[in-house]
Amino acid sequence: MIGSELHTSHFPYGEYRLARASWRDVFALHRLERLIFPGDAYSYPELLALLVWPGMANLKLVDRHGRLAAFFSGGPFPGGGRTWIMTIGVHPEHQRRGLAWRLLAEGEACLAGPTIYLTVRASNRRAYALYAQNGYIQVRVKARYYPDGEDGIEMRKDRP
Ligand SMILES: CC(C)(COP(=O)(O)OP(=O)(O)OC[C@H]1O[C@@H](n2cnc3c(N)ncnc32)[C@H](O)[C@@H]1OP(=O)(O)O)[C@@H](O)C(=O)NCCC(=O)NCCS
Repeated sequence: MIGSELHTSHFPYGEYRLARASWRDVFALHRLERLIFPGDAYSYPELLALLVWPGMANLKLVDRHGRLAAFFSGGPFPGGGRTWIMTIGVHPEHQRRGLAWRLLAEGEACLAGPTIYLTVRASNRRAYALYAQNGYIQVRVKARYYPDGEDGIEMRKDRP
């Protein structure tokens, strides 16, 4: 699906529209990142790199007012043959409505390759549960992976 026209759709969860994110979304994405990843947010250059890197699947959900509700980024970045989910986040006002589940499924459908990797904070039980319930298994612990010294948990999903 990468590189082709992404269908836009209205979800049964409400009036959320799915679309590809582009460099034009960088300011809204940065605001969302700072809100949901305090201390950990991607910088503007990092977000821009995600948004323009070849082969990346960058998807957003916008609400009925056109505001950013959720974002997914995944693909071969930062290179090396593996497919990674780089970030997934839902605005606090839109959480617990099934958006992460839906966006994860839509994002995975855009990703090539049989195996998808991601890293999640050891303390992020909600995100860990989301991934585990969607078929991701723990691969290894990355000791002190995050800047504040917290461990990261690498997870992997093998697709048929
Ligand atoms: C983690 C995060 C992405 C979850 O987003 P969300 O949209 O609230 O998640 P969902 O609504 O899709 O899922 C929420 C709940 O509904 C359940 N659910 C939703 N859709 C479901 C479905 N189709 N089938 C079964 N359960 C479902 C989930 O199990 C989950 O249960 P919980 O509320 O007890 O945790 C969100 O909290 C977030 O953005 N956090 C900050 C950023 C972050 O941590 N990102 C992950 C980094 S690795």
